[in-house]
Amino acid sequence: MPLNALGALQTDRIPVPIAELDRVLGGGLVAGSLVLVGGDPGIGKSTLVLQAASALAGSIGQVLYVSAEESAQQIKLRADRLGIASDDLYVLSETNLTEVLEAAEQHQPAMLVVDSIQTVYIDDITSAAGSVSQVRECTSRLMQWAKPRNIPVMIIGHVTKEGTIAGPRVLEHMVDAVLYLEGDRHHQYRILRAVKNRFGSTDEVGVFEMADSGLREVRNPSEAFLEERAGAAAGSTVAVTIEGTRPILVEVQALTTPTNFGLPRRSANGFDTSRLQLLVAVLQKRVGLGLGSQDIYANVVGGLRIAEPAADLAVSLAIASSFKERPVDAGTVAVGEIGLSGELRSVGQIDRRLVESARLGFRRAIIPGSVARRALPNVDGMQILRADSVSEAIEAAID
Ligand code: TYD
Ligand code: MG
Repeated sequence: MPLNALGALQTDRIPVPIAELDRVLGGGLVAGSLVLVGGDPGIGKSTLVLQAASALAGSIGQVLYVSAEESAQQIKLRADRLGIASDDLYVLSETNLTEVLEAAEQHQPAMLVVDSIQTVYIDDITSAAGSVSQVRECTSRLMQWAKPRNIPVMIIGHVTKEGTIAGPRVLEHMVDAVLYLEGDRHHQYRILRAVKNRFGSTDEVGVFEMADSGLREVRNPSEAFLEERAGAAAGSTVAVTIEGTRPILVEVQALTTPTNFGLPRRSANGFDTSRLQLLVAVLQKRVGLGLGSQDIYANVVGGLRIAEPAADLAVSLAIASSFKERPVDAGTVAVGEIGLSGELRSVGQIDRRLVESARLGFRRAIIPGSVARRALPNVDGMQILRADSVSEAIEAAID
C-alpha cells in the first residue's frame, strides 16, 4: 500500500462566498468532508444551507440539494423568495437514501446537501426514519460515499426535544464539523457556531439576520446588537465579548423585583444560569446588596450566548443598576471576570476589546485593575477606569 508523506498531502478548501459561514467553517469547506448543520426546527437551517448551496453552485459547479422534507415545488418557492435562480443548483425530493446516493452517483455533483438526516431512511434498517440507528447508518453511508469521491456533503439535523428522534448529538463524533444555528425564532438575529471542527477552530461565530429574503450576513454585529439600545436606563450595561477573532459588544439587561412568595427566581437568557447565581451571591456577600428577596432576570440582547466570564462585570453592574434603580452611563463598557472574593480578574485580549469599544463611540471603559498597563492600547478619547473589585466598579459606574 502506498504511503503518503504528511508534508506532501493537500487539503482542498473550497471558499464559501458567504463570509460569515466561511469563517465558522475555518476558511472554506474541505473537500470530502461532512458538515452537519444543526438547530431547532424553524430556526433557518434550510434557508442557510440553500443559500450556501446556491452561492457555491456558481463557483464549484453543480450542487445537488436533496430534500426529504419538502417537495421540489416547495423548494422552488423558497428559492424564489430568496432570489436564487442558479442553473447549477439541482433539487431532488427523496426520502430513500439509497435513491439519493444513486442520483448523486449519476449526476456527480460538486457538493451534496441532505435536508434533513432525520427524514431520510435506509430500507435494510427496520426502525423508523429519525431513529438513532437510521440517522447513524444514513450518515455513515453518506460518509462512505463522500470520502473517496472527495465531495463535500452538508447534512441538516434538527435538535429534537423528545428521545424517540435522534438529534445531531448522536452524529457529532461521526462528522467532520458540526455547526449550530442558534437564536430565538421570534427575533431577527441568528448565530452560527461551530461546536466541532476537524479543520478549524470552534471559537468563531457567524452572525445573520433573518429577513424576508432569507438570512442576511451581519458584518458589524456590535452595531446591530446595540442598535435598539435606549440609552442610559437602569439595569442596562454593555459587555465586550470575544468570539473567536472578533470582539462583539452586546447589551446586557437585568431586572430585579421583590419576590412575591417562595424562593427568589434567577433566570438568565444568553448567559449561564449558574454563573448568574454565583454573581448574585458575590453581590450579596461582598457588596452587601440585599438581593436575597429579589427575583433576578438577566438577558443578553440580540440572541448571542455569552460563555466568557469576561461578561461577569457587565452582568453584575446591570443587576446592581436595576436594584439601585440608577442607570449606568450609556457611553460606558464593562469588562472583567469576577472571583468569589468579589475581586475583578483580568481577561484576555483587552486591547482588541477596547479598540472596538472606542470604534463604536464608547467613551469610558471599566476594566480590572490587574490588567497590565502595557497591555492597554492607545485609545484616544476613551477614559479607562481600573477597578480591583466589583464594589469599586459599582461605585465608579453607578453614582
Ligand atoms: P427554515 O429554513 O425552513 O428553518 P429550518 O430548516 O431550520 O426548520 O426557516 C425557518 C423560518 O424562517 C420559516 O418559518 C420562515 C422564516 N423565513 C423568513 O423569515 N424569511 C425567509 O426568506 C425564509 C426562507 C424563511
Ligand atoms: Mg428545514
